[in-house]
Amino acid sequence: MIKQSSASALAKLILCGEHAVVYGRPAIALPLADLRARVKITPAAPGAGVTIAARDLRRRWRVADEPAHPLSELVVAVLAQLGAADPPPGLRISIRSAIPIASGMGSGAAVATAVVRALAHQLGHNLAPADVSALVYASEQRFHGTPSGIDNAVIAYEQPILFQRLNVQTFERSNVSIEPIAIAAPLTLLIGDTGVRSPTRAPVGEVRQRWQADQASYEALFDQIGALVARARDLLAQGDLAALGPLLSQNHALLREIGVSSPELDALVAAAQAAGALGAKLSGAGWGGVMLALVDPARQAAVAQALHDAGAKRVIETTVHTHT
Ligand code: MEV
Repeated sequence: MIKQSSASALAKLILCGEHAVVYGRPAIALPLADLRARVKITPAAPGAGVTIAARDLRRRWRVADEPAHPLSELVVAVLAQLGAADPPPGLRISIRSAIPIASGMGSGAAVATAVVRALAHQLGHNLAPADVSALVYASEQRFHGTPSGIDNAVIAYEQPILFQRLNVQTFERSNVSIEPIAIAAPLTLLIGDTGVRSPTRAPVGEVRQRWQADQASYEALFDQIGALVARARDLLAQGDLAALGPLLSQNHALLREIGVSSPELDALVAAAQAAGALGAKLSGAGWGGVMLALVDPARQAAVAQALHDAGAKRVIETTVHTHT
């Protein structure tokens, strides 16, 4: 029988702390189990090398022909780590993803994670989440410049985490703290998609320039976000969602001050708040992509309708279950 392998990886949502997390403050990220990227690997003729088919992008290429493509670089790095680079095996890697691209839900990191998992499986290796996360982080660095590492971590570990970079001078993966967090009451979340695609590196790069020009103001904003995230962690552990909601809305106000919101995001956040959400904020890098609203299940339908009416291109309803 010809060996085939498949693997998947889930999407992520940042509950609070994005951007400040790049500068050493804590952030909370949640796994979204229902939205996944999937990878299937089938053997090709020996000597054919590795071909990647990204079906949603309608693109197909040979790794040897496009070595600078981030996914080609990832494949080469994984094969090297698994001792299978020379000569590369004949493989066809087929990628499908239900996660909207450039929308703040970690689609790039999820695709990369599924590729790493499937390749490891195909080559008979079992990689621990920390190894998967490290390989994907290196790939994210090639693609995004200065990612904090929160996306690859929550996607590799598949559990709610408090993530913090311990040394902001280096972007070494080993200098991070990844702590599973307790969630005492289920979180009902609505994710409103502006439909505006915004690659992470643009707002992250802009924030870095603004921070360089005015470090005191930006450090003060990041401190406020860090304090809010620490309080959010306690409220999640206590199941106090009524107190958590307003914190999320405050986080949105701080992200606006940092300059990463957009008229579309602000409209969806305001609509959710007016329709009775406990709290609402943009999620991810901003300038487009998605926002989230924390809702009481009794208000879920009304808030979802308000998001549609305010221009959301898609509303995803999801529940994050309790974790102890
Ligand atoms: C992106 O999901 C979150 C940001 O904080 C960037 C990062 O942490 O790498 C905006």
